[in-house]
Amino acid sequence: MTVRIAIVGTGYVGLVTGACLAELGHDVICIDTDARKIDGLNNGVIPIYEPGLDALVSRNVEQGRLHFSLDLPASVSEREAVFIAVGTPSHPGTDRADLRFVMGVAQEIAASVDRFTVIVTKSTVPVGTNRQVKQVAERHLRLGQTIAVASNPEFLREGSAIEDFLHPDRIVFGTENEAAAAVMRRIYAPLAQLGYEVLATEIETAEVIKYAANAFLAVKISYINEIADLCEVVGADVERVAAGIGLDRRIGAAFLKAGPGWGGSCFPKDTRALKATASEYVVPMRIVDAAIEANTQRKDAVVAKIEQACGGSVAGKRLAVFGLTFKGETDDVRESPSIDVIRALAERGAKIRAYDPSQPAEAARLLPMIGIASTPIGAIRSADAVVILTDWRHFVECDLGELAAHMSDPVMIDLRNLYEESWVRRNGFRHYVRVGRKSASVAQRQLSVQMVHRQIGWTPSQSDLLMLATTPAMAMNAAVPDDKEATVAIASAAAVSMTAGEAT
Ligand SMILES: NC(=O)c1ccc[n+]([C@@H]2O[C@H](COP(=O)([O-])OP(=O)(O)OC[C@H]3O[C@@H](n4cnc5c(N)ncnc54)[C@H](O)[C@@H]3O)[C@@H](O)[C@H]2O)c1
Repeated sequence: MTVRIAIVGTGYVGLVTGACLAELGHDVICIDTDARKIDGLNNGVIPIYEPGLDALVSRNVEQGRLHFSLDLPASVSEREAVFIAVGTPSHPGTDRADLRFVMGVAQEIAASVDRFTVIVTKSTVPVGTNRQVKQVAERHLRLGQTIAVASNPEFLREGSAIEDFLHPDRIVFGTENEAAAAVMRRIYAPLAQLGYEVLATEIETAEVIKYAANAFLAVKISYINEIADLCEVVGADVERVAAGIGLDRRIGAAFLKAGPGWGGSCFPKDTRALKATASEYVVPMRIVDAAIEANTQRKDAVVAKIEQACGGSVAGKRLAVFGLTFKGETDDVRESPSIDVIRALAERGAKIRAYDPSQPAEAARLLPMIGIASTPIGAIRSADAVVILTDWRHFVECDLGELAAHMSDPVMIDLRNLYEESWVRRNGFRHYVRVGRKSASVAQRQLSVQMVHRQIGWTPSQSDLLMLATTPAMAMNAAVPDDKEATVAIASAAAVSMTAGEAT
């Protein structure tokens, strides 16, 4: 049965939610304060890059189920549910979520409702926020009006947002009001009927589920990144390791992709906010802390890896960077690792030209010191190396031979493991470096070790490096208990003989 819904905040989440709820048959109006966005949408212009969103929006607008407005008071009138989908960035200078926008909107909604309305928080908010929304709203209601609140966290991923919304692993809502629960069930009935799981919980549980899920995924990525570092040193292949552990149903294959670290509009701010909430309640959050720390250091390690691949320094090197967004198939550059890595490379004297298929306007503002090309060839022409920082499908489909032919020195540093090494080399690249794969030479293995150890603040000595230069089997054979000198001598001989072997 159709529910009359308003959505306040027409960004990545609000617009996708609005279009998908309209697709499920509801009558939806999306509201925003950004006049350019709303005018554009009323003229068929989609403000974000999200595959499939154009068609979904235009179909539902044509069929009269989806509308856009700048006028909040008029738009929330006669609506059974009003969703809050505004941003909850980190509070400036702290780890806490900034709830100004959520509370401001809650107040505005309450002052305008003219029937029983459920205020549904879809924005990611710390535990306790929905109760605060209720208090704030109740203070601003007009005489005789009533509201209830529901927490309805969103789990969509940019780049596959429509698929995720319409085919969810689960829908979670938390409310303590029966009438609100009934409205929420009607909203999601079309998906429940298709067999998708609807989990109704207490308000606090729903709030915690969202942060616990995001932090867990961030931990998973940081974990595989550390395993990738180990793989580089010991001669294993992180892609195969990820496949090997991901096939275990207790672990699962998703979010086991080693790379330049996690970023985006959610994981960084949500892990920080979870940490802040836990600290308020004096609950240790050591694993999340470690993931945040590892992810920060990851970017330094990535920069060091690029420097090594460029012969030890990027000063004066012409680098092409592919990918500005935090992941493929989106135009979102919020807390993108690519932005931090580019800044660090530019500070070290690299001359950078970047290319991103979504041409994110925000990137030019964040990176005034680099050139941004509108084509891959525009970025790569005469480059000394190309660095892949985002996992766009488009990059997988690029003609590598053509790219190599336009470069001054065909070197590729692939921080997303997009290609097979043999394919890259066959297409003319003389040097191919990737993440978490066996290094080609003892020297590279030594550098990997140095980079890993730089992260934990320990610089290995020459003798340490000699020992670490051997394969694990050689090191085992070389070890002479209690006689470090003898061990180093044997390891050194083993390393030399292995280097000779690799050179042939
Ligand atoms: N982006 C994601 O992948 C994702 C996924 C799950 C959850 N979330 C959460 O959803 C929330 C929204 O994220 P987003 O990425 O859509 O943010 P966004 O910045 O893309 O969109 C927020 C929108 O709210 C509008 N807005 C701000 N104040 C307003 C007001 N007073 N009235 C009306 N509109 C107002 C802004 O103009 C903007 O269009 C955040 O809490 C985020 O953590 C995001």
